[in-house]
Amino acid sequence: MLRLCEAAGLTGADSAAYARTVLAALGPVAQRSLDLPPPDDSFLSDDHTPVEFSLALVPDADPTLRVLLEPGCGAGSLEENGRTGLRVVREMAQRWGFSTQRLDELEDLFFPPNPEGPLALWCALELVPGGVPRVKVYLNPAASGQERSAATVREALRRLGHHQALSALPEGDRHLFFALDLGDWEEPRVKVYLAHHDLSATEAAGLSRVGDGSGGPAQAEIKRFFHAAAGHDTDVADIEAGDGQEQRLGRRPVQSCHAFTETATGRPSGFTLYIPVRDYAPHDGEVLDRAVAVLGRYGVDPAPLVRSLAAATSRRPEDGVGLIAYLGLAHQQGRPPRVTAYISSEAYEVKPPAAVPSQRRAPVRVSGAS
Ligand code: TRP
Repeated sequence: MLRLCEAAGLTGADSAAYARTVLAALGPVAQRSLDLPPPDDSFLSDDHTPVEFSLALVPDADPTLRVLLEPGCGAGSLEENGRTGLRVVREMAQRWGFSTQRLDELEDLFFPPNPEGPLALWCALELVPGGVPRVKVYLNPAASGQERSAATVREALRRLGHHQALSALPEGDRHLFFALDLGDWEEPRVKVYLAHHDLSATEAAGLSRVGDGSGGPAQAEIKRFFHAAAGHDTDVADIEAGDGQEQRLGRRPVQSCHAFTETATGRPSGFTLYIPVRDYAPHDGEVLDRAVAVLGRYGVDPAPLVRSLAAATSRRPEDGVGLIAYLGLAHQQGRPPRVTAYISSEAYEVKPPAAVPSQRRAPVRVSGAS
């Protein structure tokens, strides 16, 4: 955590404050020996570490380091997990003086008796300079059952004033998360995450519902990102698309996120696509190459990402897969696109390089080449 903060350009004082914050949010689990097995089968990361880091990268600025954590990990039951999560978020609200009202209004929806999984509450902190993080809370639309998740999301959106938002969403296979920005955000978002099994690049490019269609990301840009992250050769992919033979991502599903910041238009103002790169690459060396190529496209310096991987682990990227769990491309109206990279803790386990063949059929282009 301290090394990652340093790699992201935070001061020693901010880093120390954030390390304390994360330890406090995790509670007893943070004191638990890593020689013991994981406290439970947390869905937060593949090896069940209840902590995942990520970088949001933009041109010409320090990256923002974020940390996703599960405060209720190891609580014994999912119900208790959720209660612990709520308590920890409310403690943060007290400490930093923000309101949890929007979360409180949804409590009965996402924290029923006998909740179902795969999570109860996760919390993400954006570790901005100054020692006071921006806080995000992730809730489980399937808490009252997978079959009720659409209704749960609809009701949650309605209570927050987003009456038409559900019908603005594209089709997906499952509602995965319902997320709220809490605290000091310029434009706090309400976000809905969808899973898409067997998705093609063309389908991915059609998922954004931002604005009237003109303000959102261009479809060609989404396709390019999809192929680059999945390791598809773009020329081959174009020919295949013409033949109707497009490659689909058939292992772990791609995710999309739709962010709402106002209630007037009924439309989202943000769209993010997440590619679970770890299921589509033999090792992290290749994932890093892909990430560097994507960052090059957007004029972003890859050095902080390279430094962050070295801060997170002493292993070489080629020696495992899953250190980078997802690559994301985020578009928020009125802001430059952001590339996000999710960095696993690997506190319990490193997944060995996979036998999955590289999806790449020809050498990848170097960033900058056209
Ligand atoms: N581990 C879960 C997954 O792979 C949840 C998750 C953690 C996630 N970090 C994420 C999902 C980043 C999307 C993006 O789905």
